[in-house]
Amino acid sequence: MSDPVVRAVGLGKEYPLPEGRLRVFGGLDLELASGDVAAIMGVSGVGKTTLLNLLGALDRPSEGTVYLDGEDLYAKNGRELARTRNRKIGFVFQFYHLLPEFTAAENIALPLMIGGEGKDAALARAHRLLDGVGLADKARLRPSQLSGGEQQRIALARALAREPKLLLADEPTGNLDWKTGENILRLLLDLQSRTGLTAVIVTHSENVAKYCGKVFMMERGELKRIEPPARS
Ligand SMILES: Nc1ncnc2c1ncn2[C@@H]1O[C@H](COP(=O)(O)OP(=O)(O)OP(=O)(O)O)[C@@H](O)[C@H]1O
Ligand SMILES: [Mg+2]
Repeated sequence: MSDPVVRAVGLGKEYPLPEGRLRVFGGLDLELASGDVAAIMGVSGVGKTTLLNLLGALDRPSEGTVYLDGEDLYAKNGRELARTRNRKIGFVFQFYHLLPEFTAAENIALPLMIGGEGKDAALARAHRLLDGVGLADKARLRPSQLSGGEQQRIALARALAREPKLLLADEPTGNLDWKTGENILRLLLDLQSRTGLTAVIVTHSENVAKYCGKVFMMERGELKRIEPPARS
């Protein structure tokens, strides 16, 4: 069997509070192989975004670590961590985080340009990605001119722009009607089968979880693998 793409070992996170500390979870293990598409479910406030941030090198754990492609993420210094994040991880944030002063196409092209691609090539690729999420006609609009669901699709296209090894998506279909959400999932699964993309999708929706090969439930500081809901 090939080495896991992601391996979290004894992962834990505490946040300092005005009084004491909040232990969100601890001693958490998770292993995903190339091509795994995993859903993480669980009630609001249980720690799903916290976990995603740790898998995506956006925060540092209080205990344990994460191996990405065999590399210990948290043995790295801040600069090395940022480099790995840019090269290997695509992130769709719960609240999109698009840059308001740039158009949809520019938002997608920017990470490519930061990665060293020329402007024309980056914009051409951005247009192809926009087409892939069904928004070819919105390329020139700014985030404030787009609906929530459209912004979410732009955020997904941006996360995929650099062909990450690992895609982390925090409720990527949360604001979409089910038909649009399903199209987005099909896009992801198509990428997964063509490129071996590994994805972790935080979702409240059983409809989304149905599409995922592995489903985990986060509950009171623990992550349990559960049976995927049956596809109807
Ligand atoms: N920066 C922070 N400082 C202190 N506490 C935090 C911080 N970020 C999150 N928390 C707390 O950690 C817990 C887990 O938060 P998290 O955002 O991971 O939940 P979630 O499962 O993603 O919830 P939702 O489904 O509502 O997005 C919550 O109780 C939250 O209040
Ligand atoms: Mg969250």
